[in-house]
Amino acid sequence: MSDRVLGIAMNGVTGRMGYRQHLTRSILAIRDDGGIPLPDGSRILPEPILIGRSERRLREIADRHGLDRWSTDLDSVLSDPDVSIYFDAQITHAREAAVRSAIAAGKHIYVEKPTASTLDAALELAKLAEQAGVRNGVVQDKLFLPGLLKLRRLVESGFFGEILSVRGEFGYWVFEGDWQPAQRPSWNYRSEEGGGIVLDMFPHWHYVLEHLFGTVRTVTARTATHIPRRWDENGLPYEATADDAAYGIFELDNGAIAQINSSWSVRVDRDELVEFQVDGTHGSAVAGLRSCRVQHRSLTPKAVWDPDAVDPGRYRDGWETVPDNTDFPNGFRAQWEDFLRHVVTDTPFPHDLLSGARGLQMAEAGLESARTGRTVELSEVSIR
Ligand SMILES: NC(=O)c1ccc[n+]([C@@H]2O[C@H](COP(=O)([O-])OP(=O)(O)OC[C@H]3O[C@@H](n4cnc5c(N)ncnc54)[C@H](O)[C@@H]3O)[C@@H](O)[C@H]2O)c1
Repeated sequence: MSDRVLGIAMNGVTGRMGYRQHLTRSILAIRDDGGIPLPDGSRILPEPILIGRSERRLREIADRHGLDRWSTDLDSVLSDPDVSIYFDAQITHAREAAVRSAIAAGKHIYVEKPTASTLDAALELAKLAEQAGVRNGVVQDKLFLPGLLKLRRLVESGFFGEILSVRGEFGYWVFEGDWQPAQRPSWNYRSEEGGGIVLDMFPHWHYVLEHLFGTVRTVTARTATHIPRRWDENGLPYEATADDAAYGIFELDNGAIAQINSSWSVRVDRDELVEFQVDGTHGSAVAGLRSCRVQHRSLTPKAVWDPDAVDPGRYRDGWETVPDNTDFPNGFRAQWEDFLRHVVTDTPFPHDLLSGARGLQMAEAGLESARTGRTVELSEVSIR
């Protein structure tokens, strides 16, 4: 069989995610390794075409990596029959219009999360992609992280018994931008540009919960804009109109309760920037991006509450490390490889635009709950 060269229009490659994770560590890394091998002995060879707004910055990236195709004209790239896939890592706000054009041009679609700025728009994109018969997918990278892959191993092995609760802690301090530059782009703090931690992180939490623990049935959330004034990339002050912290409770269909704090206004006293503690009848685990520790019921110490005595329990010593047992590739790259195989050989790919829309449904439910003070139920979304 002959190799399959796949032209991939990559929009937003001047951005943090588009450049580092998707272009460099995924597509170029796959090319450098000679493509993706298929069972019949042939290979998938991805060919990036860079798209963006700044000719200068695109040319710089192209020169740096020896690439010869880049453009600031999306429509002309989409009209090229050699382009099979449209990939979007632009700011969230810009995604919907570009994805609509790409679907209309008959391209397969792969996008960063969230798939659009609203649930309605996300469902519409999922529907249009299905009607056009194009393959489609959304980045759900956290599922491909070593720590969460180990957690999945534990779930599938039955280690936990009945899972009772999941507690997630995500966050770090994002500098305000005045006395030290902010380490995230300023659009993240403006709701009118698709910013906000709920829109950013709830889609992640949705697919993590859905894939590892169960279907999310209800959402209760409080949000806050703890830091109301920040300084942008040019050192100019601006009003932060979006939430920078969200405190959420999610009930799952199997009765487990997940509680996840997300904050860009918190200082880290954890081993990793995100950690999930899972407690089950037979055992517990704490998983981060890379590591995972467990405590089986047989190793559980008898903790006794006595504030008048010095507590002799060295509780963190009673946990064991889950071994790697395998090599873990970059998670973004691993998911790209799955998506490209899905496009070429129709292997299953559950991370489609409809699953992305469910993530937006949970984000919108979180914002509604914060606004109304009520628990919001999630009904099943569909595109039929
Ligand atoms: N999967 C993940 O873990 C993860 C992490 C961070 C961000 N993201 C998502 O990736 C997308 C990009 O985020 P980022 O952090 O790379 O952002 P970024 O600001 O670094 O990059 C944004 C890109 O969008 C382009 N763009 C198009 N229209 C724009 C406009 N009007 N204003 C500003 N930029 C515009 C920029 O040129 C740039 O290439 C977002 O949708 C975000 O939700 C995903």
